[in-house]
Amino acid sequence: MRIAVVGSGYVGLVAGACFAELGHQVVLVDNDERKLAELQRGECPIHEKFLPELLERHRGKSLDFTGDLADAVRRSQLIFIAVGTPPKDDGDADLSYVESVAQGIACAIDDYKVIVEKSTVPVYTNSWVRKIMLLNGAPAELFDVASNPEFLREGTAVADFLYPDRIVVGADSDRCADLLAEAYQPLVDGSYFKKPGAIPGPVTSPFKATLLRTSAKSAELIKHASNAFLAMKISFINAVASVCEAVGADVEQVREGIGTDSRIGRRFLSPGVGYGGSCFPKDLLAFRSVARENGCHFGLLDETVRVNEEQRNRFLRKVRKALWTLKGKKLGVLGLAFKNGTDDLRESPAVSIIKSLVKEGCSVTAYDPAAMDRAAEEFGPNTAVKFASGPYEALEGADACLVLTEWEDFAALDLARVKQLLHYPIVVDGRNLFKPALMEAAGLNYYSVGRPDVVGERAVTIKASLKAEAARQNEAA
Ligand code: UGA
Repeated sequence: MRIAVVGSGYVGLVAGACFAELGHQVVLVDNDERKLAELQRGECPIHEKFLPELLERHRGKSLDFTGDLADAVRRSQLIFIAVGTPPKDDGDADLSYVESVAQGIACAIDDYKVIVEKSTVPVYTNSWVRKIMLLNGAPAELFDVASNPEFLREGTAVADFLYPDRIVVGADSDRCADLLAEAYQPLVDGSYFKKPGAIPGPVTSPFKATLLRTSAKSAELIKHASNAFLAMKISFINAVASVCEAVGADVEQVREGIGTDSRIGRRFLSPGVGYGGSCFPKDLLAFRSVARENGCHFGLLDETVRVNEEQRNRFLRKVRKALWTLKGKKLGVLGLAFKNGTDDLRESPAVSIIKSLVKEGCSVTAYDPAAMDRAAEEFGPNTAVKFASGPYEALEGADACLVLTEWEDFAALDLARVKQLLHYPIVVDGRNLFKPALMEAAGLNYYSVGRPDVVGERAVTIKASLKAEAARQNEAA
């Protein structure tokens, strides 16, 4: 099929590269000249597993990049809109980019096309896109508008696209739904899975994706409701973690106990510093706003957001509990991205926690395996935040180590070395990356989420004896 994808952010770029991988002829449209030039040179602007391989495989063959929307529209049967829908001050999604793309498509349309909303948008966007197209002179018989939400997670977006739990085709006419469904045929009939050189997925047995046909409005709601439900699971376990802390229980045991109930499931029940990223925070606010505008009180969404915000404050209180006063303290921070596997800092709990700590007079040396360049831009020439070239360097001489992103590499750190490098043997872990017993054995004071603190005189005594030993060695030297 001939496909145009408008917007080459996370969603558009992954979708475009994956449609090319499925055998379609794809043109990616963006108005950012710098980004287009990068893509044309073969550079991958985001850290996303398998994306560089796909761009390399299809660039200049079945995947082109252009700034010319009208030309891309004329060349395509399906036009996916994947531009940004950032939140406005009141939480509503700003749909002005979607509107201007719809205007552009309307002016160029010359043959029957399906316009597909791929960006996360509130219910009714579909009808608005249709109205805008008509107002801009697009003949009604030359287009339909469908909603095809994506469920990609950053870091695993390519595999999520090629091995989805479901594909939602939201359309109000068969002609439109059939054309959109055809784009996913290699996933639905299982032929992609069998293709030599197929990107490996999380499945070993033959894979066929489930395709759900719904109305356009239902598809729009499915996206918001899915993200809200996942965020609610995270806030739920974070609230349970607070109760665990209050009563001396272990949230990891409680999580196992509830997650093994197949009706609840284990996934998205990891407690931590709260959810971040470009999707959950924005989508929760947008969904709440849709509910309100339509006269529905959805207090569960308010509470999900409140628990999430409180989780960052709880972490700050833990740092204070571990270190007493904060002014002048030197902190080694492991992790900056909003989660592992990505270099994305948008709404990252790590960034907001670091900013709060700096406000309190701390200085920070941070390390992240992927997000260092973006972090340097985010914090600018702020002298209170420095960056290290590795995790151990970040901890050298720090009064405490703070773990803020769940990178697997951090879990494999040599704890004896960590202890040796730290000024005080204190680790405050916002992601429960370590086993408390191992931290205790390593002589570290350890504060995590929803689990009893490991605070031993032992840790302090060992540190004191190490210092005394070092002093003796110095004297001897
Ligand atoms: C999320 C959804 O998972 C995707 O299905 C959806 O397509 C995407 O939003 C979107 O709307 O575009 P993403 O934002 O990439 O994907 O990240 P997640 O893996 O969902 O994680 C979101 C946040 O929740 C991260 O900060 C993560 O650390 C946190 N999290 C996740 C937890 O604190 N606990 C968990 O158990 C899981």
